[in-house]
Formats: sequence, structure tokens, C-alpha cells
Amino acid sequence: MKRIALILTALVAVASLSAQTAKTVIVPRPMEVTAVKGAYTVTAKSVIAATDAELVRPAELFASYVANDLGATLSVEQKQKGGIVLSLDKELASEEYTLNISSKGVKIVGGTPAAVFYGLQSLRQLVSAGEATKKGIKLEGVAIKDKPLLGHRGAMLDVCRYFYTVAEVKRFIDIMAIHKLNRFHWHLTEDQGWRIEIKKYPNLVKIGSKRKETIIGHRRYSKVYDGTPHGGYYTHNEIKDIVKYAAERYIEVIPEIDMPGHMVAALASYPELGCRDEKFEVRTTWGISKDVLCVGKESTFEFIEGVLSEVVELFPSQYIHYGGDETPRHRWKECPHCQKRIQEEGLKDENELQSYFMHRVEKFLAKHNRKVIGWDEIIYGGINKSATIMLWNDRNRAKAISLGNDVILTPKYYCYMDYYQTNRPWSNKEGLMIHEKRILTLRKAYSLNPFEGLQPSEYGRIKGVQANLWTEYIPNFQEVQINLLPRMAAIAEVGWTIGERNFDEFGARMHHLRKLYDKNGILYAPYFFDGTDEIE
Ligand code: ACM
Ligand code: ZN
Repeated sequence: MKRIALILTALVAVASLSAQTAKTVIVPRPMEVTAVKGAYTVTAKSVIAATDAELVRPAELFASYVANDLGATLSVEQKQKGGIVLSLDKELASEEYTLNISSKGVKIVGGTPAAVFYGLQSLRQLVSAGEATKKGIKLEGVAIKDKPLLGHRGAMLDVCRYFYTVAEVKRFIDIMAIHKLNRFHWHLTEDQGWRIEIKKYPNLVKIGSKRKETIIGHRRYSKVYDGTPHGGYYTHNEIKDIVKYAAERYIEVIPEIDMPGHMVAALASYPELGCRDEKFEVRTTWGISKDVLCVGKESTFEFIEGVLSEVVELFPSQYIHYGGDETPRHRWKECPHCQKRIQEEGLKDENELQSYFMHRVEKFLAKHNRKVIGWDEIIYGGINKSATIMLWNDRNRAKAISLGNDVILTPKYYCYMDYYQTNRPWSNKEGLMIHEKRILTLRKAYSLNPFEGLQPSEYGRIKGVQANLWTEYIPNFQEVQINLLPRMAAIAEVGWTIGERNFDEFGARMHHLRKLYDKNGILYAPYFFDGTDEIE
């Protein structure tokens, strides 16, 4: 009953469009929204005035976003006056903006161009939900003050288990921008495919970017393979193009080179990187491989430094993600090179051996003025204060927080977008998911409290939150979107919204965002919207 009442409330909310105010529309919810008398109608002739050269590009992007709503692409001029005026105010924080709509027009002021861009994303949602009149789109008067809770608001895409085209990656970035996300974590290397061209090591794409076939069905039960090769990689030029595309949308691309585990595609390309004298194949099934990089051989470090030298040329990001997850110790325990390294370096065990490796990589990246982010397993053998922990395992939460390092939250039961979305499995149309039973509904994703169990003095350690999409069972970009949305919107609000949050109120706003998705040809899962995601 409660559920039906909620759906009715949402439907009523959507039906009475003319009564919409910014408070009931924008996702993620702004910090402060105050109704103001009057209204302003944006017409096809409205001019966007960019008062600073840096605001011209975001203005042009906004014009393209609302072109369908207005039936025209608004003109952008670098000047001081217009129907929609964009300006900068250095007094505001770097991601803080104000958005004012009155009978005189629309004004967006931001601390930086990025902040103005966020204001424009809010305006885009208001235009999408606004009242269509003969003249244009009528917007109710409002005064918005807004800024994000957390600095890192991310989304991760695994392009290794399945490859997605440059156009699809740009689409992913477009979807992130709608939600005011600002960090694209690009998972580029894996056991099942190496996706970044490295000129010094050509076999990585010649051999490592292709697998001969892929398992059909769930890896736990199936022994059947599709017999079809799968592959793909991004050239340096394509990567630069994507980095620039993201930067125009104020999204930093953080590449992940996952090491020393999840390296079978590299081992297939250069078998000498392994502990044993054997040949490898790019993996054709999922799960964790016992084959990892040999940390005893100096040549492994030479390889990693060669790879990272090209990575830092391609990606200007402050952080490089160096992986560190799911690295079985079996090979190291049996390897004379690895055991010699443990002895010579006075390391206690294989956990410390992994830390030795991560520290050396961190040191190399520091020479290039880059900092590292690693999955929470990097804490096992000790970490430097300078490393940021990406926390995905609940079992490591307390320890990771107690260390005092910077933390980005991606707890899997809230942030992993590859679990089922409905607790009515029979209504799920996506077929196989990574876990046969685990369910992550929109409500559950929204319920993440970044500061749960922390003392206020510890809140500052939480630098961000991120939605992760692993793609073992997500073979195409349609399914990428359907798994991502609407749940990524919930994570975006967790990371952005300051103050109390309420799921039902969020849900009502999501019905507006859904329309924006529709208008832009963005796919999403139906379960929350048609009420089949939760039974009580
Ligand atoms: C991970 O999910 N292996 C980070
Ligand atoms: Zn070894």
C-alpha cells in the first residue's frame, strides 16, 4: 500500500507541471532553494551572455542540451547582458554556484567555470520540466544556492570485460555530466583485455587486447564458450580526444592500470612478467586469476614504469589509480625471485611484498607529480599516508578509516551497479548478473550515508563517493545504461547534497529526470518507475 501511495504521489507530482518549482525537480537536490515571485520565459530568441571567455563553451553546451525543448539553438555571445547571464565570482567556492530566476531573466554565478556548468545542468533540468507556452518555456522564479558535499563524485566504467567504442565512452561522460559527477574512473586493463595503447610495448594491444572467446552463462556453472573473438583498444589519439571531451564537461579522467593482479592480458603479451616460465592466454572467463605480476624481477618494474610513463603523458589527472585489488599470493609463495625479494628487503610476508610493489609504483608516479588511488586491499601490507584508499570491501572499512588516509567510498553493496535492481527477480529483464542473488535497489543505493559511524572529526577523510560498473555480464552499451540508471543518480545525490536527504522526495524528482533521460535517448531500468523494484 505504501508503495502504491508513493507511486501515486509521484504521478501527481509529474502531472501538475505548472506547479513545479526547482525544489521538486533538480537531481541532485541543491543545498538551498527559495521560491521568488515572478517567472521568466526562455524563448528561442533568448541570448546566453557569457561574461567571461571561459564561459562560452559551457554556454554552448547548454544551448545544445536545451535545443530540443526550445526548438532552436540559443545564441551565445561574450557580453554582459542577456536573458541568461553567466558570470564568475572568485568569492564562491570552486564548485559553488547560485542560480536566480526572476521576471528579469536568469543569472548563474559560479566560483569557477565548472560551477557555472553545474548551474547550467540545474537550469537544463528546470527547462526540461518547465511549462511549455506559445512563447517558450516558462520558468518559475527561484533563488538557488548550491555546492557539493564531496569533492570526488565519480563513476567507474570497466571497458575490459567488454569493450565500448569512443562514442559510447563519450555518452557515458555525457550521462555523468547530467548528474554533476566530476571524476571518470576509467578501468583500462584486466585479465580479459588490455585496452590502452602503449607504444613501448606493442604486444599489449596486438595480443593483450583480444580474447579468443567468452564464456556464455554464469562462470560458476557454465563450461560453454561463444567461440567468438572479442577485443578493442583506445589509441593515444582517441584517449586524448576523450580526456578533452571530459574536461570540457569539467570531468577529470582517472585512468586505472590495475596491478599487480588482474594482469593476465599483459602476461599473455609478455610472459616474462610472470613468476613461472609459461605461456598465458588472455582470459576467456571471469573471476580472479592466480597469475599475477612477478614482483621479484626488476624487469617487471621496468615494464610498469614504461607503461606509466605513457599513461602520465596521456592523462593530466592529479591521481592515477594503480589498482591493488584481488592479488592472490600463490605464485609469489613459490617464486624464487619473489622470495629473494622478500628476504633481501626484509619483508615479513607476501602482504608486505605487495606493499613493496605499490610503494615503488607510488614513488615513480610521485616523480611525475601524481598521487595514487588504490583499492582497499593496498592496506594489508601497510600503506603511505599519501595513498588514497578506494573502499569497496566492508571488511576493510574500519581499518581503512582508522589509518587516517583519504578515502573514496565505493562500498559494493551500495555502489556496485552490476547487481540485480529489483527484489522481484522474475521481473528482472537483464538476465545474468555478477551475483546470482544480491540486489541493489535504488532505495538501497540512496541509503548510503558517507559518514556512517564516523566522528565529526573524521568526516574530512571521506573525499568522495563513486558508482562502479563492472561489466562481466554487461556486453553492450544499452545494458551499461540500464544498469547504471537510475541508481547512479542516487549515488550522485549522496555525493552532492548537503543536509538531510529523503528517498521519497528524491523519487518524486527522479520522475522528472526520467523524462530528461527519455528526451536524450538515455536508457534506464524501469523497475523503480513502474513500481516493480521492491515488494514489502
Ligand atoms: C574490485 O571490485 N575488485 C575492486
Ligand atoms: Zn615472482
